[in-house]
Amino acid sequence: MTAARAWWKEAVVYQIYPQSFNDSDGDGVGDLQGIIERLDYVASLGVDVIWLNPVYQSPQADNGYDISDYRAIHEAYGTLDDWEELLDEIHARDMRLVMDLVVNHTSDEHEWFQRSRRGEDGYRDYYIWREGETDEYGDPTPPNNWGSFFGGSAWEYDEKGESQYLHLFHEKQPDLNWENPEIRSDIYEMIDWWLEKGIDGFRMDVINLISKPEGLPDGDPDSDPVGVEQFANGPRTQEFLNEMAAETFDDYDAMTVGECVAIDVDIAGDYVSADGPLDMAFHFQHMQLDQQDGWWSIEDWSLPDLKSVMAEWQTDLDGWNTVYLGNHDQPRIVSRFGDDEEYREASAKLLATFLLTHQGTPFLFQGDEIGMTNCPWASFEEMRDADAKNRVALALESGDIEDYDEAREVVEFRSRDNARTPMQWDDSHNAGFTDGDPWIKVNPNYEDINVAAAETAEDGILSYYRELIDLRSDLDVLVYGEYELLLPDHETVYAYRRTLDEPSVDVDDVLVVLNVSPTETGVSVPVDTDAALLFGNELDASDASSESHDSIDLDLQPYEARLYDLS
Ligand code: NOJ
Repeated sequence: MTAARAWWKEAVVYQIYPQSFNDSDGDGVGDLQGIIERLDYVASLGVDVIWLNPVYQSPQADNGYDISDYRAIHEAYGTLDDWEELLDEIHARDMRLVMDLVVNHTSDEHEWFQRSRRGEDGYRDYYIWREGETDEYGDPTPPNNWGSFFGGSAWEYDEKGESQYLHLFHEKQPDLNWENPEIRSDIYEMIDWWLEKGIDGFRMDVINLISKPEGLPDGDPDSDPVGVEQFANGPRTQEFLNEMAAETFDDYDAMTVGECVAIDVDIAGDYVSADGPLDMAFHFQHMQLDQQDGWWSIEDWSLPDLKSVMAEWQTDLDGWNTVYLGNHDQPRIVSRFGDDEEYREASAKLLATFLLTHQGTPFLFQGDEIGMTNCPWASFEEMRDADAKNRVALALESGDIEDYDEAREVVEFRSRDNARTPMQWDDSHNAGFTDGDPWIKVNPNYEDINVAAAETAEDGILSYYRELIDLRSDLDVLVYGEYELLLPDHETVYAYRRTLDEPSVDVDDVLVVLNVSPTETGVSVPVDTDAALLFGNELDASDASSESHDSIDLDLQPYEARLYDLS
């Protein structure tokens, strides 16, 4: 059955990380006017929606995910007037704007937390406070053994509040207490305030953490911290999300995508099915493939495993998928899933094909359209990521590592800074990102990898993205078509078919073939029709032919991607 149509299903989303996109005033930090300057470029990609990471007022302990005022713009990014101008300029180019919504936690500098820690009437219960015990020296011990996502305990003793508060992320990001109806209605008012301003939706930060398990289980304060399985998808998640939707989004034609940690396809269905509270969810199952043993290990991921995750979501999700391979929290996609050296260009194109031909709304991250790579870090001092910094500090403190060099390989790969180096616009000083000193190192490969160079490269990565985005908007089958995985066990070739049961369309059956390897590969793909090349390299006549008509034989170059019309 073909899914019901919706604008956000047909959209391609482009994610802008404001701090690193474009600096208009030379302070080394990207800003809203900087984004406005580059909007023609963004529109030229053919994308429909911009997702903007948080631009709200924030002390920036976690790059804006620690909000101190939901209704103000972070000073370094500009003013609310700049933001209004940005919204108008986006709409003037027929694109839409989706903002980040961070309501699992605030900054500890938010007025609510300030009042809460002072125990002001009505505010104490805005956050999650526990007395906890004290140890033999009289120092507070955590009320339970929950671990923060950034390493260490999820509890912090607050002198002023005279007890401990929960922070599932940085200690400057106290978790809000969603059990309190007052906080919920304050949040809904704030959401409406932005929707009334005309935004087109929200990407909702760690939204399935808002309901904490009843009574916060004691755990064992002496054992290693335990994690996300303890506090994700809590008992009232669905209720809170339904309430939020009814009070806010349901009155608007808004798009919602929830970042959901620790979900599988069944749990996701509760959130995103046709009558569920959200339109879409980001899951992490494919992001876990190279870190099954946690953050500190880098494992080889295997293509059959990636296919199996993708195929499960593509075929079993009761709802609409998101398709992403990277974002501001993940390594660069070409460095993680492709080859950022010899086959950078070919593998970046292959990953573009992956992103734009699955069933679901594609989310592209700034810079991937020119094949930006992980950064060669010269020292730990160059890093900015609160998560990586915290983990290294804790590992040093606990003696798990003796010095940074022991952690270096993992940290340099995993650090979220890899995705956050400035956008590479041209080969001028600082890649054209800023006239000042950039807040984070510019990847030295900007002299070769930059937008200006990409604009002049015929058949380069950038033009490939543009053409494929165009093709996707022309072909309903790429948006709404059913997905069928072929060759599930093939070690290096990922092949799938998209079919649409719509008699009126010309192209209703498409085969996607990706050679995810640096080796030329011959493969026989089991499809029982003639195949005409739709997108990719020209073939010689003998290729893609089949006498028996139950398979086509292909000879694929390293990291080659092709689309065939089987209609
Ligand atoms: C997920 C965001 O994507 C990440 O950047 C942030 O650190 C955490 N949520 C906490 O807000």
